[in-house]
Amino acid sequence: MKRVFSGVKPTGHLTLGNYLGALRGWAEADQYETDALFCIVDLHALTVEHDPARVRRLSMQAATLFLACGLDPEVCTVFVQSHVSEHARLSYLLECTATDGEMRRMIQYKEKAALEQERGGSVRLSLLTYPVLMAADILAYGTDEVPVGDDQAQHVELARDLAVRFNQRYGPTFVMPRATHPGVAARVMDLQDPTSKMGKTQASGAGIVYLLDEPEAVRKKVLRAVTDSGRDVVHDRAAKPGVSNLLEILSSCTDGNPEALAGVYESYGALKKDTAEAVVELLRPVQARHKELCADPGYVEGVLMRGAERARAMAQPRVDAAHQAMGLLSPGGSID
Ligand code: AMP
Ligand code: TRP
Repeated sequence: MKRVFSGVKPTGHLTLGNYLGALRGWAEADQYETDALFCIVDLHALTVEHDPARVRRLSMQAATLFLACGLDPEVCTVFVQSHVSEHARLSYLLECTATDGEMRRMIQYKEKAALEQERGGSVRLSLLTYPVLMAADILAYGTDEVPVGDDQAQHVELARDLAVRFNQRYGPTFVMPRATHPGVAARVMDLQDPTSKMGKTQASGAGIVYLLDEPEAVRKKVLRAVTDSGRDVVHDRAAKPGVSNLLEILSSCTDGNPEALAGVYESYGALKKDTAEAVVELLRPVQARHKELCADPGYVEGVLMRGAERARAMAQPRVDAAHQAMGLLSPGGSID
């Protein structure tokens, strides 16, 4: 069966972008059709300045939301990255395979490093090596497919490059992964700035719909979304980024098609109203299930513990093989 791996960083509250771009597809299709692992990638949250207590809280919240979104721990593996030491172990081995230039070319690194410097902060070394840790997440499990939003395509490409290079140098060890993206809503944009991605760590929350936002807050944010000049409702990302974003959100919520939906609306106002209601309805069951799960944190902790055990058993043989292939002695083992 195909192996799938994907993850979310606990750096902020999960957003509608996370849901439409990633989680919903995992819950509706991936977990049933493949042998899937879904991970709260907490080590990645340490690559920028953070409050330890908040990371801990957000990790638990993300795990609870994974389950609330429909991930079923009986059919897929849900776990926390730092609970499985194979990730960090393999990351180091892959750092010895990657080059400095390769890391500095990563778009997300360039953007985030520039932002840190603008703020007068320093750039953590782990921000530079972040894509190698992500490659380790993927390669440790012999992953075939990585379902992600399209902002992650370059990182998955790097994982492929590292797999090829490693296999050529040290012998066949890793499977070649590939990124898969949802048909619509692969990139949900910020409602206040529809030219940038709806990201959980944006400075202002006004353009971001969080999965746990109250219905009234969702309505307010969608109704106040920035739209474009003119009055025609057309799907054209370049000329009408605001309207196109709303059309994509609405079609993703209702399994429609943005071009077809554009023909249905005569005003921006009507489009906003329907989009707001569609998002509220989409989030309703997720929020209800989240509330139930919060009443039983022991259950979520148990899921994470069993998930980590399963994940460790899957990752260990391949990471051990990589270890030996590179020339490291296995502890207590024979020389060959
Ligand atoms: P992150 O929030 O960066 O940890 O992303 C977790 C997953 O959600 C990744 O697969 C991202 O590509 C996806 N994702 C995050 N933000 C968006 C967005 N605005 N639109 C679509 N997918 C997104
Ligand atoms: N870098 C991803 C993001 O920012 C999160 C991530 C870390 C991930 N490791 C992964 C996604 C492995 C897929 C597979 O969204």
